[in-house]
Amino acid sequence: MNNLGSNEMGDIFSNSTLFENPKPVGLLEYIIELGSSSDGIIVDFFVGASTTAHAVMKKNAEDGGKRRFVMVQLPEQCATESEAFKAGYKTIAEVSKERIRRAGKQVKQNNPEVDTGFRVLKVDTSNMADIYYAPDAFDRTKLDLFVDNIKPDRTPEDLLFQVMLDWGVDLALPITKQSIQGKDVFFVDGNVLAACFDAHSGIDETFVKELAKRQPLRVVFRDAGFRDSAVKINVEQIFKLLSPTTEVKTI
Ligand SMILES: C[S@@+](CC[C@H](N)C(=O)[O-])C[C@H]1O[C@@H](n2cnc3c(N)ncnc32)[C@H](O)[C@@H]1O
Repeated sequence: MNNLGSNEMGDIFSNSTLFENPKPVGLLEYIIELGSSSDGIIVDFFVGASTTAHAVMKKNAEDGGKRRFVMVQLPEQCATESEAFKAGYKTIAEVSKERIRRAGKQVKQNNPEVDTGFRVLKVDTSNMADIYYAPDAFDRTKLDLFVDNIKPDRTPEDLLFQVMLDWGVDLALPITKQSIQGKDVFFVDGNVLAACFDAHSGIDETFVKELAKRQPLRVVFRDAGFRDSAVKINVEQIFKLLSPTTEVKTI
């Protein structure tokens, strides 16, 4: 019964009317059992109060499964007269995320081994400025205006997720950041991908060699990061010599 779903929201948020008609966790667990394997990926394009994510974590706790979830939510505003808005949630996605955090904590109380971590990503326009896609359409006398081909408001993390998507690297892999010769370098799952998006023309051959010695499977640099054209041209050669299996990309 749907009122069970409201009671479950009450347990988690101390407010059973926070979200209209949330589904009961047990119903979603039943559907998950019918339609997926114990290491499947469960996708919900209408996530609302994240009952599906809650059910995935609970089911994993119950049977030791390794299911993962992808929850998708439109940037829909909470209606000003809604309980969610009154409780301080401006968008449905904020409720969705908080439900996953709280449900994860609840599941972990009795089953600390269950992985309840999740990463939040927002769909946006491309990071690349228009010049990157159609250089011929721009007036060559004004090329100085386009020295950087990346939109100015984009962060290194934005660029990292773009290349992970381009390369088909699992977006849930662990990411660490290290400072190498004063520049930030991201490492995805150890050596699956190394990325340096430094844009201050500081990337020289010593730095490129240092990265090549670590033999990542893939490496990516930012065009505006190279000290000069010679370094950019030599990158491929340095990797061919020190780490021939590395795929090299510049954005
Ligand atoms: C009723 S809620 C889902 C409730 C959820 N199953 C639960 O138990 O909490 C429906 C969700 O679909 C989203 N939605 C509505 N129309 C949509 C559309 N055209 N495309 C994608 N999402 C939509 C809404 O933002 C809302 O989060």
